[in-house]
Parts: sequence; structure tokens; C-alpha cells
Amino acid sequence: MSFSATTLTGSKPAQYAQLLAQARALLHGERDRIANAANLSALVYQALPDLNWVGFYFYDGTELVVGPFQGLPACVRIPLDKGVCGAAARTRQTQRIEDVHAFPGHIACDSASNSELVVPLVGADGALLGVFDLDSPLPARFDVEDQQGLEAIARAYVESLQ
Ligand code: SME
Repeated sequence: MSFSATTLTGSKPAQYAQLLAQARALLHGERDRIANAANLSALVYQALPDLNWVGFYFYDGTELVVGPFQGLPACVRIPLDKGVCGAAARTRQTQRIEDVHAFPGHIACDSASNSELVVPLVGADGALLGVFDLDSPLPARFDVEDQQGLEAIARAYVESLQ
């Protein structure tokens, strides 16, 4: 299979609609959680500007364990009571953090990170699967439109596993 990601154009919601279509095409016909997390990390990292880390943490029943990602090597295990990732997993609410240095308990894997978006991944049966985590060197890199676009991409990932 060859996959070509076209350049995103138009308004931000239009760009996210294009990226979602690319994500669906990329994941189509494959249910393996590692394969799909790896390819989705690469797609998003290449497609969106101003990111220094994009990837997955999987819930092992106790804590979050790092999965496929793009960026610098990251901390391997995150307890649910630690960090932005733990907060997203524990509350099952997306964490959109404009300044990670102001977030109590933020885990600095890459000192370049200044803002972060973490989307919880919850299966159709309500089980916590993990989180989808994006870091940026820019302060306040993620706005509400980014959050909505990336939540839709995270849903496409969860749906691909079914
Ligand atoms: N900053 C995250 C840890 C994961 S790295 O960003 C890849 C946190 O506070 O949970």
C-alpha cells in the first residue's frame, strides 16, 4: 500500500476534515492497535505544524504505558494521578493545557514542550484504552478547533480497533 498525505488547505476546520479523511483511509482495513497508533502518530506529526511530540499511551489496567509515537524518547509509565496524561485518563476529559509549566504535576519528557493536548481513548464498551498526546514548543498551540479536530481523529482511531 502506498499512502500520500496531501497538504491541508482552507480554514482550520476544513483542514481537520481533510486530515480526518486521511486518517480514516490510513487505518481502513486494519484493527491492530499498535500498527494504527504508529501510522496515526506519523500522519499527524507530519501534517500539523509546531509539534514536538505526538503519540499514544496505553492503559494496562494500572497505569499508562508509552506506545507508538513521533518525537524524543518519552517517560515509559505514567500513573493515573500524575501528569496531563494521567489527568486525561482519570477524568476521561480532554486536557488542553496552554502552559504546561503552570499545570501541577506536569511531566516534562521533552523540555521543549510548552503546551499540550491529551485526548482520552475510551472504547465502545466504556473501557479506558489510553490517551492520545500532542506536545508543542509553542505556548497555547492548541485552540478549541484543534481540540475538536484531534478528538475526531482519536475517535477514528478507537473505531478502527472494533
Ligand atoms: N507531558 C506529559 C507526559 C508525556 S510527554 O508529554 C510525551 C504529562 O504531563 O502527562
